[in-house]
Amino acid sequence: MSNEIELIKDPGLPAHVHRRADDDEKYAKRAETQVSILFLLSAFGTVLTIVSYVFIPTDKFIFIPVMGETNAEQLLLGLGMAIALFCIGAGAIHWAKTLMPDNEVIAERHEFRSEDEDRAEFVKTVKAGASAAGLGRRPLIKRSLGLALGLSGLTPLLLLRDLGPLPKENLQKTSWKAGTRLVTDPGDRPIKPADLEVGAVAQTLPELAPGEERTLNNIGKDAVLLIRLRPEDFNLDAERLSWTHEGIIAFSKICSHMGCAVALYEQQTKHLLCPCHQSTFDVTRAAKVIFGPAARPLPQLAITVDADGYLVAKQPFTEPVGPSFWERSS
Ligand code: FES
Repeated sequence: MSNEIELIKDPGLPAHVHRRADDDEKYAKRAETQVSILFLLSAFGTVLTIVSYVFIPTDKFIFIPVMGETNAEQLLLGLGMAIALFCIGAGAIHWAKTLMPDNEVIAERHEFRSEDEDRAEFVKTVKAGASAAGLGRRPLIKRSLGLALGLSGLTPLLLLRDLGPLPKENLQKTSWKAGTRLVTDPGDRPIKPADLEVGAVAQTLPELAPGEERTLNNIGKDAVLLIRLRPEDFNLDAERLSWTHEGIIAFSKICSHMGCAVALYEQQTKHLLCPCHQSTFDVTRAAKVIFGPAARPLPQLAITVDADGYLVAKQPFTEPVGPSFWERSS
């Protein structure tokens, strides 16, 4: 079946009413300018929205006679969006009512791929439609509409700012610093190497500074597993070995696959297991992944002891803890 494309007068639509712009080019030019002004106003509204969102502090208030004390950012955001949306709508309506042809185009298309000549015919008709809409003849409208639509596309990008820091950035900042003591969880008691027997595993957290409180977010990011092996069990390079202390090694507890808590330790094999998707990490080889979907080892925390003999972090984590789905290349 070939495509049928025809221009018809839809019997359901009112008959074409003669418009002044149909044969008065001066009037058509004026309408074109009006439409363009509306589109430019819309672009201005979007710029106002972006500027108020980025530059006006959220706690700035101004006095407006009928409204009283008003939040400046919210007022200008609302105003900007209202101008942007109203003007682009008004411009489109004015354009359609004064300048666009009011013929209805019906294109009956074959369900599957059409024959080449039908496709070429279709492209020709679309181009003819665009030219009938006057975009080619009315560059002012084309440019102002492009500007208004382009800028309005930027607005949703701004909302990304409210989603908080990127996960990678967030997970890069744990509470571990050089000299932070490891404390029991629960109990918050500092730990000495002698508290752990060979084969033991313990969950620890960083010691809180006076006045600091633990948040759920921090507990999740900061949780560290301490495991004690015999020093000769390790199969580590010199640097990673220097991050252990008397056979005690520390890893982030958040699985590097999807962020579950790595909760199972097999003493015989010296493997840590994540219960969610069975990623398995070899403790003797710096938590290298030996099975499962995790893409990278559990980050290792370098530890030593302080002057009082308590276990402390030597330095913060050197890589983000937790899932690594945003850095697939690693
Ligand atoms: S979250 Fe640990 S294996 Fe998937």
